Amino acid sequence: MPLFCDGIFFICYFLLSFFCWIFATMLPKIIITIDGFSSCGKSTLAKQLAKKLNYTYIDSGAMYRAITLYFLRNNIDWTKEKEIHTALQNISFEFLPNELSGNTEIYLNGENVEYIIRDLVVAEKVSEIAALPEVRTFAVAAQQKIGKNKGIVMDGRDIGTTVFPNAELKIFMIADEAVRVERRFSEMFKKNPNVTLDEIKNNLALRDYIDSNREVSPLRKADDAIELDNTHLTEKQQLDFALRLVKKVCEPV
Ligand code: CDP
Repeated sequence: MPLFCDGIFFICYFLLSFFCWIFATMLPKIIITIDGFSSCGKSTLAKQLAKKLNYTYIDSGAMYRAITLYFLRNNIDWTKEKEIHTALQNISFEFLPNELSGNTEIYLNGENVEYIIRDLVVAEKVSEIAALPEVRTFAVAAQQKIGKNKGIVMDGRDIGTTVFPNAELKIFMIADEAVRVERRFSEMFKKNPNVTLDEIKNNLALRDYIDSNREVSPLRKADDAIELDNTHLTEKQQLDFALRLVKKVCEPV
């Protein structure tokens, strides 16, 4: 008898999962953009949302960081347009899944640079390089190509305004500055115990300033973006909030 019940349970479970899967694949795939200041928790939310929805997560900031890494390693003089132009021609990106974490990671010319691009040496220069018009044109074109088939969650600074102005769902994340600094500090301290709170604080302030004041695609909330302040929210609360928004957008009224 218990064996019989187990069998019934297994079949019901299988059928239920199958219909849920069919239902999920029938829902229209959309583009979800998540923009905001440094260390607002954009990537945490974007990764979890992508996993839940079976979407691809793309970290647009990783592209700017990878370009910066390339420029630094190859001593590119980014005050010279011709040098920038040639350097960009030699850069290619790929986002490939990490089987262990289930997240996508960035490859620069075939090398996995996901870890090294988070270094403070890169963070100190990235906003200056991301403000260069030619760099932006290059990165935005790559981002738009990746989003062609929808089913993506992309985070950054100008995703809802410039990269995908017609995205079905746009979220703009904010959090108190002290909380952002603390979050980034504890993340960086695990990698490098010599890093100081002041270094992190100054880097976030500098990047936010450059990102908000550059000429091309400055960081700003798209008019149709929904603001999410996660200063006092847990990861689960912010994910639930975003999932409710997805449901509203995707489900027929
Ligand atoms: O994770 P965090 O908030 O520190 O930054 P990130 O997403 O890794 O982005 C690093 C830098 O890339 C930002 O400070 C911006 O200067 C630039 N960026 C950008 O200009 N546009 C984007 N869509 C994404 C990042």
